[in-house]
Amino acid sequence: MTGYRRHIFICTNKREPDDPRGSCSKLGSESLHACFKQEAKRLNLKGLVRANKAGCLDYCAQGPTVVVYPEGIWYRVTSEADVKEIMDRHILQGQVVQRLLLPDQSPPPLLSPLKA
Ligand code: FES
Repeated sequence: MTGYRRHIFICTNKREPDDPRGSCSKLGSESLHACFKQEAKRLNLKGLVRANKAGCLDYCAQGPTVVVYPEGIWYRVTSEADVKEIMDRHILQGQVVQRLLLPDQSPPPLLSPLKA
């Protein structure tokens, strides 16, 4: 194995409750991270896909923030259903989930399916 085919970073940054910037953790990103891991396991993607916690990704106002590499596509993910859609459509089928994209991204690249 030479590395993961796709790497998902989920911001789980925490800030003090009175911090005006808020944080993705406050918006539930810890459980979203767990859901990404659970989905990767359910889809039998061990060794192909990794879901990692990340520090602040600088899109705090638009979070919970998730970025998928190697494509570098940024999403706002707020629910388990969003996680499942990214795993099924982006990770497995190579389709960008347009409705979850953070704004102001240049057109995403064409993706290749993870499994044919
Ligand atoms: S706290 Fe998540 S992007 Fe900043």
